[in-house]
Amino acid sequence: MASDLRRYLHPSFLLFVAALFGALPAAAQASLSPRLHSLANAADIHPGDGQYVGPGSCSAVACHGGIEPRSVTRVLQNEYSTWVTRDKHAHAYTALTEPLGEQIALTLRLGPAENAPRCLVCHALDVPTSLQARKFDIADGVSCESCHGPASRWIGPHIQTNAQHAQMVALGLYDNRNLILRTERCLTCHLGAPGMSVDHELIAAGHPDLRFELDSFTAVEPPHWVEKNAAGQPLNDTLFGTRAWAIGQAVELRASMQRLARSAHSGPWPEFSEMDCISCHHSLTGPLSWRQRSGYPGHRAGDPPYNLSRYVLFQQIADQVDPSTNAELDQTASRVAQLVTSMSADRAAVTAAANHAANLAARLAAELQNATFDRARTERLLRSITAQADAISLDGERTAEQATMTIDSLYIADANAGGKNPETRAAIDGLYKLVSNPSAYNAPQFAAQLQRVHQTLR
Ligand code: HEC
Ligand code: HEC
Ligand code: HEC
Ligand code: HEC
Repeated sequence: MASDLRRYLHPSFLLFVAALFGALPAAAQASLSPRLHSLANAADIHPGDGQYVGPGSCSAVACHGGIEPRSVTRVLQNEYSTWVTRDKHAHAYTALTEPLGEQIALTLRLGPAENAPRCLVCHALDVPTSLQARKFDIADGVSCESCHGPASRWIGPHIQTNAQHAQMVALGLYDNRNLILRTERCLTCHLGAPGMSVDHELIAAGHPDLRFELDSFTAVEPPHWVEKNAAGQPLNDTLFGTRAWAIGQAVELRASMQRLARSAHSGPWPEFSEMDCISCHHSLTGPLSWRQRSGYPGHRAGDPPYNLSRYVLFQQIADQVDPSTNAELDQTASRVAQLVTSMSADRAAVTAAANHAANLAARLAAELQNATFDRARTERLLRSITAQADAISLDGERTAEQATMTIDSLYIADANAGGKNPETRAAIDGLYKLVSNPSAYNAPQFAAQLQRVHQTLR
């Protein structure tokens, strides 16, 4: 992933934010607000969180309402086009209409992908007409309200000079400043949620496998915001990446255990997408392949291991903040892995163990919100993770991939805080190369490269 893009902030966006939060001339605000209120009031307000107004409203509303159109419009149009041109979410609907999207839908006999609810749940703002405050184009893909929540009730108030984040949240703005909630939101699509699923059937039909790590994926998106604390002050935290990684991992572990509980509860079982893909999908290189020589630690030779990648790295930070919960989580995760890897027919046992692991992960996520993420902790994590070269690499390609994104995130955070080291950077780039062709994954080679990263650390 293009790491130097990570801290990039588009200048036009800063102007856009300034315009929204008080830097607009008073006269402009005065004429803007009533108009926005009328839009919100005109909407048939839903008793819950409000209705969706569509991404067009984010620019269109601010273009109208008596502000000097050209100057303000120019800023907003830049912002909108930034999202359209740089953020893949704007392409999410179009992807359904392209050859791969249509092929997947054809294989699954769903009719055109762009009409299939099974695809639209993650690829567009696909909400019932009763929740649409105004007509908007589903072709806009994953747009503002897919992440920020239905805007009908806050779109007016949120541009006022004295707008408070907490008040907007009460009006239905989704609280993305809270990293637990933010990760949950990303994972509804990037891991799955009830009614939103990429299972092995979809993957076998051609859908890309889903993988995620909050800090790395945020960098690639790229971010269109300045990180702020709950009170709205810019964080200016060079080590924010460590925090985002840690909380993101906890939430991802929890969401993956909840997904496993759903898979085990109903539908085809065993569900192959819960397992380490590459244990089934590697090329045959025996006799005496590295897998055979490893002796298949922890399971019967030939069983496809559960994909434990969301725990293997996370346990390092979990053990630092709450060793006793982590010890219980460790046992529970092992039990989950043992049941799934042996393709246990006892689906209730899998569901129960996975739900228990999910609860423990949730407890750790809450604790991590109050933890300190300084340079010492970041470097300690880098050292302890890279010291586990054998265990991590033998856990499989999915874990190697999570390790690569994790080490990259932690290193970039440390580099931002002054710990730049070209040798470490080069060694991490070497890790990416070793996971670029998953079917050719080789654990001993990955372990050797992890050791190289370790040696470059002070
Ligand atoms: C659980 C949410 C979810 C569902 C359901 C889902 N997708 Fe996706 N899809 C994603 C995500 C997330 C990505 C991006 C994966 C990545 O790059 O990490 C993606 C990527 C894709 C891509 C590749 C896009 C590109 O630009 O390369 C295609 C094509 C696609 N999906 C088609 C479909 C089709 C067709 C369906 C319905 C049969 C579907 N998806 C259902 C979440 C979903
Ligand atoms: C993929 C999810 C996603 C999409 C799509 C998205 N955003 Fe965001 N946005 C975020 C996250 C995460 C943050 C950072 C947390 C925060 O500040 O709320 C953010 C922050 C912001 C902020 C800064 C808020 C503040 O208080 O500093 C604004 C303004 C914003 N987004 C507007 C938009 C607009 C307009 C669109 C559509 C063109 C959009 N966003 C699309 C996820 C998204
Ligand atoms: C409503 C569903 C949804 C939500 C919520 C969502 N995404 Fe996505 N995301 C997608 C889909 C679908 C794609 C694939 C788009 C394509 O390639 O056409 C995608 C693509 C991406 C990509 C590009 C991946 C690549 O391979 O290039 C990144 C990065 C990303 N999302 C990050 C995030 C982050 C960070 C969040 C949370 C702040 C988030 N997403 C929230 C659906 C979602
Ligand atoms: C338990 C073994 C197993 C696991 C684990 C598994 N698969 Fe599969 N996969 C299969 C089988 C069997 C097929 C169907 C082969 C056929 O019909 O020819 C298949 C088919 C596929 C195909 C289509 C193959 C082709 O020829 O193009 C893809 C892609 C795929 N799987 C990806 C994955 C991914 C990604 C994962 C992990 C999320 C995964 N698989 C996990 C056994 C597995």
